[in-house]
Amino acid sequence: MALAVRFYDDYRPAPGNYLREEVLAGFARQPKSTSPALFYDRRGSELFDRICQQPEYYVTRTEEGILASAADEIAERVGPSTDLVELGSGASRKVRLLLEALHPTSYLGVDISEDFLLASTQRLAADYPWLDVSAACADFTNGMRLPPAFETGHPLMFFPGSSIGNFTPAQACRLLRKLHGLMPAGGSLLVGVDLIKDRETLEAAYNDRAQVTAAFNLNLLERIREELASDIDPSRFAHHAFFNDAQSRIEMHLVSREPQDVTIEGRRFHFEAGESLHTENSYKYSLDSFARLAHEAGLEPVACWTDPDRLFSVQLLRPRGALHS
Ligand code: AVI
Repeated sequence: MALAVRFYDDYRPAPGNYLREEVLAGFARQPKSTSPALFYDRRGSELFDRICQQPEYYVTRTEEGILASAADEIAERVGPSTDLVELGSGASRKVRLLLEALHPTSYLGVDISEDFLLASTQRLAADYPWLDVSAACADFTNGMRLPPAFETGHPLMFFPGSSIGNFTPAQACRLLRKLHGLMPAGGSLLVGVDLIKDRETLEAAYNDRAQVTAAFNLNLLERIREELASDIDPSRFAHHAFFNDAQSRIEMHLVSREPQDVTIEGRRFHFEAGESLHTENSYKYSLDSFARLAHEAGLEPVACWTDPDRLFSVQLLRPRGALHS
């Protein structure tokens, strides 16, 4: 049976070959680098789901633990009759930890991956029949507006998973500013932020023993081979992830095992042995450094929840100067 999910389909980004453009530009760059957004084809999304279940990847279970234990307090801070907007909603799993406590009037899932979005919002509508569920296939990092129904009142934007960490601090600040711009004065943002911790814990999380993160990283090359005209051979590259202390970020790279030329869409790119393609940054913050970033974007922390080991934080931000509840 088709379930009642309102689908806003005029938010879809303009068609174009994002993968082709990003890969050709990224391989021509010196040093070579690509956007982490390219990881998430269907297999990449499945591998990311598996990463979240690895014992070394503390991020997901820690954030879920925080949300479960803080849900009532979050609801108290946010107040009744909120409209909940989940950014990068994916499988919409974490939001379930908030729904009973928050009891929002409506829910809007926003994600770039349409199939995933439709399936997950339909499941949500089936499991929470009292909730008014809608979906928008959109790139919220790029000039999105909220549907009119969400432009007033006091919507809560939910941006979990430390996805904010995959932007550079300057990009993250621009994104927070954009979200601030979308929010009416009574709105707020609940964001998951990964915290700086010891190198061993951080590096283990991106080098799991089952090598799921390695497969996730290498899947980018599989994707290039399948979706673009390319002879790239993933077995000639190795996964490499480490903590860059000076930049406070995990870096993921694909390192060429040997000197080689690869062809993509008729263009040839040379790799020296040991030369890398930088595929992702995952920035880690202190509570202070993130508060500074939020401040620059015109937001201020209203409340912050962490786990007992201070591995991860969930932060509630409001436009600066707005009245606190
Ligand atoms: C989605 N993002 C927050 C993950 C992270 O931890 O930066 C992506 C990821 N990359 C490798 N493992 C997980």
